[in-house]
Amino acid sequence: MKFFIDTADIAEIRKAKAFGVLDGVTTNPTLVSKTGRKFEDVVREIFREVDGPISLEVMSPDARGMVEEAKRLKEYGENAVIKIPLSIPGLEAIKTLTGLGIRTNATLCFSPLQALLVAKAGASYVSPFVGRLDDNAHQGMELIGQIRQIYDNYGFPTEILVASVRHPLHVLDAALIGADVATIPYAVFEKMAKHPLTDAGIKAFEADWAKVPG
Ligand code: G3P
Repeated sequence: MKFFIDTADIAEIRKAKAFGVLDGVTTNPTLVSKTGRKFEDVVREIFREVDGPISLEVMSPDARGMVEEAKRLKEYGENAVIKIPLSIPGLEAIKTLTGLGIRTNATLCFSPLQALLVAKAGASYVSPFVGRLDDNAHQGMELIGQIRQIYDNYGFPTEILVASVRHPLHVLDAALIGADVATIPYAVFEKMAKHPLTDAGIKAFEADWAKVPG
């Protein structure tokens, strides 16, 4: 299973990279706006830091605009993956970009049929938003299971990228279902690494070690 970090904050990317388990980065317009910095400056810095896939989102409302924007975003680096909102123009853009050999990440996925459509269009990744579904009293993880089953039924190579992750249980459930990737906020990465019994165990070992005659 691959781990991406869901942020545009370079300090968070560096900290997660130091864990040694970071495979890529996903950004979105909200995450970029939170940095308070110019898009271009933020993106150039991320590409200097990370070799794995980096998702950058298009903002054009129509397919032709999305494709043009994707070509410009691709200039930041070979590892750029173009995030396309799951819409009818988005499907058209994914099909065109796939034909051009440009990798896409179909974002804002909330249903299994949307996931089936983008797999048929050739998307490299589909991003189902589990946290936002949970917020609306739908089981986000049920969607992950349904997409996994559909993709396995037909051998679609599109990778399931679990997004809108809010807590460690989302990552655990995604791993148990067999999702390909989870994009994780930095705070959740930290929570995944910690356990109160580990902390207590370290303290006890330190205390006992101090009693060993030297
Ligand atoms: O990158 C897209 C996704 O992970 C957004 O998450 O928390 O805004 O629903 P959230």
